[in-house]
Amino acid sequence: MNRNLLFFFFFLALISVINASKKATKFEPCPPIKGNPVDMAALTVSVSPNPIASRKVETYTVSGTALEDIPTDAEFSITYNYLIGGRTIGLPDFARFCAKGNNCPVKKGDKFNRTITAKARKLPKAFNATLVINTIHETYACAVATIQA
Ligand SMILES: *[C@@H]1O[C@H](CO)[C@@H](O)[C@H](O)[C@H]1NC(C)=O
Ligand SMILES: *[C@@H]1O[C@H](CO)[C@@H](O)[C@H](O)[C@H]1NC(C)=O
Repeated sequence: MNRNLLFFFFFLALISVINASKKATKFEPCPPIKGNPVDMAALTVSVSPNPIASRKVETYTVSGTALEDIPTDAEFSITYNYLIGGRTIGLPDFARFCAKGNNCPVKKGDKFNRTITAKARKLPKAFNATLVINTIHETYACAVATIQA
């Protein structure tokens, strides 16, 4: 193949990679958590504004189907952390899983939905955002997105 043409295709591929990284934030199930004694439900997540921006108030709306009975004292949190080293960026923001207006209790097989609103930290160019529904020892649902500006 002509060298210029090859370069052109390489360039197109590069542009599509750059564009892909600017796409809206996508959450996926968290990797398994070592020692977690319960099954983790997947979460469908939408975030607004999207993409997540430094110091903006972000609203996360999640929904899922519980794979376990979720205790009424469970918490729902959003955490930002660095990709390298994994250190958290500021403190997580928490909401009660069973706050006023939430359908509770949520039993195994029940569908649930929740929202959490939190002001984002001053964020680096690359970070993870993790949404978790847990108690001290059990994680009932988890979703993570990697953001790379
Ligand atoms: C960041 O999230 C990805 C999944 O999007 C995960 O595989 C990776 O382990 C996470 N890294 C850190 C440091 O949390
Ligand atoms: C959950 O879903 C119901 C019905 O679809 C909706 O009316 C409600 O606003 C949602 N609640 C949250 C917290 O997203």
